Amino acid sequence: MDSFDVRKRFLDFFKKNIHKIAQSSSLLPSDRSVLLTTAGMQQFKEYFLGKISPYGNRVVSCQKCFRTSDIEEVGDDFHLTFLEMLGNFSFGDYFKKDAIKYALEFLVDDLGLEKDKLWVTVFKGIKKPQFISKDLESKEIWQELGIPKERIFEFGAEDNFWGPTGIEGPCGPTSEIHYDLTGKPCKKGKNCVPNCDCGRFVELWNLVFNEYHKDKNGNLSLLKQKGVDTGMGLERLAMVCEKTNSIYKTDLFLPIIQEIEKLSYNKYEKGRKRERKSFKTIADHIRGAVFLAADGIFPSNLDRGYILRRILRRAIRYGEFLKLENGFLTILAKKVIEIYGSVYPELKSKEANILTLFQSEEEKFSKALEKGTREFEKLLEKKKQSNGVKILTGKEAFYLYETYGFPLELTKELAKESDFDVDEKKFKALLKKHQEISRAGVKSKFGGLGKNAEKEAIKLHTATHLLQSALRKVLGEGVRQMGSDITPKRLRFDFSYSNKITEKELKKIEKIVNQKIKEDLIVEREDMKYKEALDKGALAFFNDKYPEKVSVYSIYNVKTKKVFSREICAGPHIKHTRELGCFEIIKEESSGAGIRRIRAILK
Ligand code: SER
Repeated sequence: MDSFDVRKRFLDFFKKNIHKIAQSSSLLPSDRSVLLTTAGMQQFKEYFLGKISPYGNRVVSCQKCFRTSDIEEVGDDFHLTFLEMLGNFSFGDYFKKDAIKYALEFLVDDLGLEKDKLWVTVFKGIKKPQFISKDLESKEIWQELGIPKERIFEFGAEDNFWGPTGIEGPCGPTSEIHYDLTGKPCKKGKNCVPNCDCGRFVELWNLVFNEYHKDKNGNLSLLKQKGVDTGMGLERLAMVCEKTNSIYKTDLFLPIIQEIEKLSYNKYEKGRKRERKSFKTIADHIRGAVFLAADGIFPSNLDRGYILRRILRRAIRYGEFLKLENGFLTILAKKVIEIYGSVYPELKSKEANILTLFQSEEEKFSKALEKGTREFEKLLEKKKQSNGVKILTGKEAFYLYETYGFPLELTKELAKESDFDVDEKKFKALLKKHQEISRAGVKSKFGGLGKNAEKEAIKLHTATHLLQSALRKVLGEGVRQMGSDITPKRLRFDFSYSNKITEKELKKIEKIVNQKIKEDLIVEREDMKYKEALDKGALAFFNDKYPEKVSVYSIYNVKTKKVFSREICAGPHIKHTRELGCFEIIKEESSGAGIRRIRAILK
């Protein structure tokens, strides 16, 4: 049985039991107060609260999830950042009894796992901050269904109470199924039970019994209807079904691990602990990064973009440790797409964009990493010699961030390896200040160039907008901005497109831009909500980077009111296109897989 079968059998099992199959939602949640999708129930949150579900009251899904909370654990055999979560859900339909019955039936009767290896935990109850009683009901159900009390254990809220996601929402006590991988207790003997960290048990399935609503102030009240939300990591289940002891040895990861073996001339199994950890971390991070990028997240220094950048840079660092050759990120990303492309078609359709992003991130960061690490080592050496205090100041950490692009976590990791601490609080204060300054600075993008040069740059900026629209007219709507760089002398525009652009097409593009310049279109700015801008068809560059309110530049014909270009953009622009003079493309070339680059001037 491979992971493909396991995924399918889960969905089929619940379909047979009258559940509607729901597609995975994006990793970029529609509820923007949460950074990423971390659980299967997230897209159904409202249905637990009483809103009518379009799927009916019983749903099953396999949901893409990304959790930064486990990032430090990645590198062992069970923890991941990205995971596929299998889950069945009841919105006011069945409750504990059926949820437990289905779980056992699926694992034992359908998949054929040994029942003796299943151990369970239930909620012990809490007194504070609000009294919630022990979940005796679940305990009895498990026993009735043949799990002896010797394999049932009670835990408190930390292990057996789940939710809500975000600041408010449904939550409740849980019952978890743990799988006994070795059958052998560690030195704790009888006390080696589920949640022991010796590696004997792996938590397989979390059954949440949503009975409560938690409000913004942390108060619990009973929900009008009870619900079930379960979550089981496909990777862990595949590991158990494929009878191995590490998720990295399943068919979901093995091809990536083998590719790293090829690139590093190292055997994973023969590696020392740190090498094996590097293999695993790279494999996890590259997979997560591919899925994040496929859902429209770009590496950046903010929020979701930062998470993506952070895992890519961590992967590059571990890659350095294994001495992987340049370009390894794209080679591994291709592997990931190969493994998952048939299940998640978005990976295939975004392949060119993903590879280009990774290539450019690797090119940028590899060099900085080398220089920055040297700088870092010098810094530590100096400190050891001068005062012996093993703390890196916030200013020093910020210097590494600003100059070499070291995410704080990377600096912390490097520091830890030499027993140093980092003054995070100070770092964060400096970062905040820096971000405020750069936000304010967007408006004066071309400031500081001198008046004439500034004017030329602004003209080229407007020409870039015309160019993007002309490209989309000639080459199709698949064209998307991937990068732009403007100097007072020329514009440079990178965009997604897989083929070389023919001479004829280039001429056509040039002609359209010049026509629009001659028509003397008006360039007008309007401020509006981000969503409204998208509804109006404005082109957006970074999916994840915009504030709620944005400015939109439209270039249109005053008489006919026909809009030629509309983009979300911070400006600045000129007012009339006639000011641009004559537009000329001076070079067209490739700028990475699936990306073309055009340089153009105004005469
Ligand atoms: N929401 C629970 C979890 O994420 C069960 O799906 O673990």
